Order: sequence, then C-alpha cells, then structure tokens
Amino acid sequence: MNQTIKQSLSKEQAIAYEDKYGAHNYHPLPVVLTKGKGVYVWDVDDNKYFDFLSAYSAVNQGHGHPKIVNALTEQAKRLALTSRAFYNDKLGQYEKFATEYFGFDKLLPMNTGAEAVETAIKLARKWAYEKKGIRENSANIIVAKGNFHGRTTTIVSFSNDPEARDNFGPFTPGFTKIPYDDLQALEEAIKANPNTIAFLVEPIQGEAGVYVPSEGYLKGAKEICDKYGCLFIADEVQTGIARTGKLLAVDHENVKPDILILGKALSGGVYPVSAVLANDDIMLSIKPGQHGSTFGGNPIAANVAIAALTVVKEENLADNAEKMGIIFRDEIQKLVNQSKFVKQVRGKGLLNAVVIDDTEDSDTAWNICLKLADNGLLAKPTHGNIIRFAPPLVINETQLREALDIIKKTIADYEQENL
Ligand SMILES: Cc1ncc(COP(=O)(O)O)c(C=O)c1O
Repeated sequence: MNQTIKQSLSKEQAIAYEDKYGAHNYHPLPVVLTKGKGVYVWDVDDNKYFDFLSAYSAVNQGHGHPKIVNALTEQAKRLALTSRAFYNDKLGQYEKFATEYFGFDKLLPMNTGAEAVETAIKLARKWAYEKKGIRENSANIIVAKGNFHGRTTTIVSFSNDPEARDNFGPFTPGFTKIPYDDLQALEEAIKANPNTIAFLVEPIQGEAGVYVPSEGYLKGAKEICDKYGCLFIADEVQTGIARTGKLLAVDHENVKPDILILGKALSGGVYPVSAVLANDDIMLSIKPGQHGSTFGGNPIAANVAIAALTVVKEENLADNAEKMGIIFRDEIQKLVNQSKFVKQVRGKGLLNAVVIDDTEDSDTAWNICLKLADNGLLAKPTHGNIIRFAPPLVINETQLREALDIIKKTIADYEQENL
C-alpha cells in the first residue's frame, strides 16, 4: 500500500482521523497541538497556550527541556533497548542515583504509572506471604474511596468510579475501600481483617478533584500501619517529583512510605518511566523471573530519568512550585470571595483545583475549559464542576500572573454570560 504520512494535519483533519481511526476512550478538548516549549504549547494554527495540565503532571520540568531531550536523543542513538535478559551500562547508574535521591535501598523499574501500582501490589503481597506469614491468597489491601491508581483490571477492581469499572468485571478480590482522610476508618478496617497487609493511598487525591487530606493524615496513617505491621504504600505518580511544593507530597508530613510509587515526571514527560522504591527487606521478596517488563529499566528510560531528576534539583522546582502555588491560590481566592459561582480553590504547590458551584455531572467545567482555550490557556475538568490547574513547575511569576489574568477574566465573563 502506497500511503504517505502527512507531515502535518489541519485541526479538522487531525480530529477527524482520531475520531475515525482511533478508539473512543478519551474526550479531548478540541485543540490540536504540535509544539511545546517550557510552559507553552502551540496548536497547528500557531496559536500559543499556557499548558495548565502538564500532561496530568508529567511535564513538571517544562516542555522540551534541553537537558532531558538531550539525554533521550543521545541514548537513543547509542543504545535504546536490551531487555533485562542482559545488563546495560545505564540501569545500574540510574538505580544508584534514584535510590540515593529518594532514600531507599532499591528500585524496580517499570514504564507506566499503572504498571508501577500493579508492581507495588504484587510486591506487598509477596512480602506478606513470604515474610509476614499470611495464608496464601488471603492478603487484603486497604484503599481509599475516590482513588485513582490507573486503568488495569486489578486497579479498576478497587475504584469506585462507575466509568472506570462498569462492565470491566469480574474484578480482582483482596481490597477493602474506606473513606479518604479518615484515620479511624483505617484502624477499624485493619482490625476487622487480620489479613490486611498494606494501605495504598494517594497523598493528595488528584483525579478525584485534588482533595488535600487534613494535616496529620499521612503521618497518622503511617503510624497506624506501623502499629499493625502493615505496609504504607504511597502512590506519588501524580503528586511526586516536586509537584506539591516538596520533592514528595509525603515530605510535607515527614513520612517515609514503605513502598513509594513514581511515574509521570520521573521522565519529565518525554518517555514512559515509572518505578517502585522500597528497602531490601521488602524488595528482595521478588526473585528473578517473578516480575518484569521488556521495556522497564531500558537505557533510554534510565538516562532520561537521571536527567529529569537532576533538573528538578538544579532548578529548585519544589521551591518554585511552593511559591507559585501560594500566589495561585491567593489570587483565585479573591475570585472566590467576589463570586457566587466559584466555590473554592484548593491544592498544594502547583497541584490545584477550582470548584464551581454546579453538580458533578454538569458540563460547566468543560465549557469553561473551552473558553480558557479560546483565551490561550489549556486546562481540563476532573469532574463536571472541578477544573484542575497544574502548570509545568518551571513557570515564573510573570507567566503565572499572566495566566491568572486569563483564568480570572474567563471565569468572570462566563459567570456574567451564564448567570
Ligand atoms: C495517582 C496516580 N496513580 C497512577 C496513575 C496511572 O498512571 P498511568 O496513566 O501512567 O498508568 C495516575 C494517572 O493519572 C495517577 O494519577
């Protein structure tokens, strides 16, 4: 077949192609992007936008960061993939670098966030059967209602979002759901099931709508886990790598998870890289042949992750996220104070959400996002009434204030036109 791949499609063509030839498992905003630099992206008609989604917090280091792109291209030219059938000269370096960086004995490399969550679940179960003496096939893991940990069959088994679950059963057993931000529920659930081996939790629930738990929740949860000999597993796929104003969101409460799950910004968004970190007593429960991935730990991923993590420290991205986040929430709070329509701003660092006074299944947040795009800023609803704002962490104050003007004006105009 003599088909030519066009260099660039028009906006209408790109959307029509995806609609006709792609599965309909997403509902994107009708914007067709072709280029990115720092906090900006451009569409095929050369319109420039602030990127306030950062690919769901993967592009923390900004689009096209030269150090990260260079690590990618140089390694791609040299050696891309060996599989783990052989050693490669990058993986060990990366594992040393990342374990020292996050303070764990060992790292298990995977590719996507969901794979890393699956890995953490398997690791916790293996540890429980082989070290804790739990009877085979009876291990129970506690999770929080409203969680989002990915899309695999096991992970959606413990979701309570009907869209993520409906007609994907039968589901994987071995999980108990408790309310988020409820320490009493955690302790009661552990006591109710002596086979409980772990608590898997997002330090801030991102996809649920940026729910920040009460102060002391993470510390309290870790203490309860310790008291009953359960593992505290932190899913920092979205909150990690400086997004919330600290390297990890658990650092806000000086909590060290037993198992740490990372993804997204571990590569700065240029390549799928995820990881599970733990100390030897847990990590060495998995032996050769028991878990793996063809691409996990490949030389490109390893080289890119070292560069991406180096940029986070060199450019003080956690501090910047903390400072810019305060400005963001202060400014939006002014809007909340004046408006009957904007109910709340919440978040930590540069992971924030604005809650609109409407129902969860309304299309208000979507319609505001369309207007934001018209005005040069891209963001995405997490629910019908919640918009998440999560720009790359390299954003400076001038850029942030310009973006805030767009957000404030767009929402004020929308309120005037619609109420
Ligand atoms: C907390 C959390 N865990 C896991 C995932 C899944 O990551 P991925 O989409 O790379 O599989 C996400 C994605 O948004 C997430 O926010």
